Amino acid sequence: MPQKHLKTSQKKLLKWYETNGRQDLPWRNTEDVYAIYVSEIMLQQTQVKRVAEEYYFQFLEKFPSLLALSQAPLEEVFGMWSGLGYYRRAKNLHASAILCSDRLPKDMKSLQHLPGIGKYTASAICSFGYHQKVSVVDTNIARVLARFFGVEDAKEAQLWELADSFLNTKNPTEHNLALMDLGSLVCLPKIPTCAVSASEEVLLGCQLSESEEHLSGCQVCPLFENCKGKEEPSKYYKTKSKVYEEKKLHYGVCVKDGTIAMKISKEGMYKDMLELPSIETFCHVESLLGSFKHSVTKYRLDVHLYHLDALEEEVVWMPLSELHTAPISSLTQKALKLYKEVKRD
Ligand code: ADE
Repeated sequence: MPQKHLKTSQKKLLKWYETNGRQDLPWRNTEDVYAIYVSEIMLQQTQVKRVAEEYYFQFLEKFPSLLALSQAPLEEVFGMWSGLGYYRRAKNLHASAILCSDRLPKDMKSLQHLPGIGKYTASAICSFGYHQKVSVVDTNIARVLARFFGVEDAKEAQLWELADSFLNTKNPTEHNLALMDLGSLVCLPKIPTCAVSASEEVLLGCQLSESEEHLSGCQVCPLFENCKGKEEPSKYYKTKSKVYEEKKLHYGVCVKDGTIAMKISKEGMYKDMLELPSIETFCHVESLLGSFKHSVTKYRLDVHLYHLDALEEEVVWMPLSELHTAPISSLTQKALKLYKEVKRD
């Protein structure tokens, strides 16, 4: 794409961001790199609204600095993470804090040596935290770039190159944030709102500049004019069809004197988290409490829950009153909810 087109697109993008961007997000209004790091880890698998309203401030109040986080017991970190899921993130955050002690590294390479920090997160810290001239590519930005440059089946390395070629070095931070917002507000995966019709234009009160009057309708997207993918956006972004694996799981519930038998998962996706004992390892299965379906990553799970009155292996007896702050997956939460429901009836 000619430099001239890149430059005009950069300018339009920033202008669009000024009036349409999500500048009010709390992690965009701090210079505290640690807080930005925490937000990026939370945002990896959780929606913006939940992070902003339920977790970000609470976590920072409890652990106001990297040093404070490094000195806290992991259980307390898990407690503040409770309900966010993917506890590996909390574990990595804590481990990174211990490794860094009081200051995060300032370059992409060193950041990526820390647990849980990949290229995206390192670039986000460098761009949003340190305001360095680095590109950022997350899934939203990748889609915008693939369409704007008209690249089919773009590989990751190529997307980073495209991001570099488009980076506005005069204002790299806002440029990256603007691309991110464009991807999540306009250049949507299924039906991007590239442009609206002339009649909608009146409703929206959009105005075209003189040089743009030859364009029919009103452009919602600031990159519309030079976008190579606008005629066929779906060609440049393909949702991968997921291949699911079906699994049957059997868990046991054994409650005694206000405590419940739990196990600490030793491997897999739920490593270090508390889960109900798996039923195959027990002998005294009394009755089925109920069943439910659960989907997580590539798994479609068929979960069966049994009441146990005794068990023979090592377990952790967890007070029922403390479960709400324990590291528990949404699968186990569902199982415990089911148990509470049937127990009451
Ligand atoms: N602003 C900065 N980083 C962000 C992210 N990962 N998601 C949404 N908004 C952000």
